[in-house]
Amino acid sequence: MTNGNTFRLGVLGSGKGSNFAAIADAIDGGVVPATVAVVLGDVEDAGILGLARRRGIPARFIHPGQFRTKLDEAAEAAYIAALREAKVDMVVLAGFMRILKGEFLRAFEGRVVNIHPSLLPSFPGLAAWKQALDYGVKVTGCTVHLVDQGVDSGPILAQRAVAVLDDDTAETLHARIQVAERELYPEIVARLAQDRIVVKGRITRSR
Ligand code: GRF
Repeated sequence: MTNGNTFRLGVLGSGKGSNFAAIADAIDGGVVPATVAVVLGDVEDAGILGLARRRGIPARFIHPGQFRTKLDEAAEAAYIAALREAKVDMVVLAGFMRILKGEFLRAFEGRVVNIHPSLLPSFPGLAAWKQALDYGVKVTGCTVHLVDQGVDSGPILAQRAVAVLDDDTAETLHARIQVAERELYPEIVARLAQDRIVVKGRITRSR
């Protein structure tokens, strides 16, 4: 579903915005056939909002409300309204540190995508690169997936593996995973914008 000819993305983030920047660069480079219609953040001074504004992309801080890990009802309604107002076709989570459920997922059913810094279903939740290092796995990576009601549990769209090196620290491993994220996420957003991914239940295929 597109508005006119351009597939419109609504990006949500809480942090520095390197995944958003990679997607915006790929759009500018003609690799992703889409436009970022709006960037929303739950942290007033988040880097992602500044990055968006410097690119001339509408960016708004919307207060998340009274909870620490999710949006409260009023905030959820405000995020939905802002995304609808921007006529987004897809919601791209780029380091948004809150769990989205209920009304939000119903409003954008099957159209919310996330990137997670591990090979799901291993290591869902916070600091997944550290979980992987502490567990002692020799390969980890990143996963692009559709968002469902669970935590990092929706259908997997794509994954990229990253080797864990003997001398890795949490920081060095995280940095290499982020390099992989910045390659993979724009690629998959491009395929989604081109309608080249088929989702049937949990099974996803490229066409
Ligand atoms: C990424 O590592 C992503 O995996 C996780 O949050 C981080 C966001 O980083 N969901 P950035 O704000 O895109 O730089």
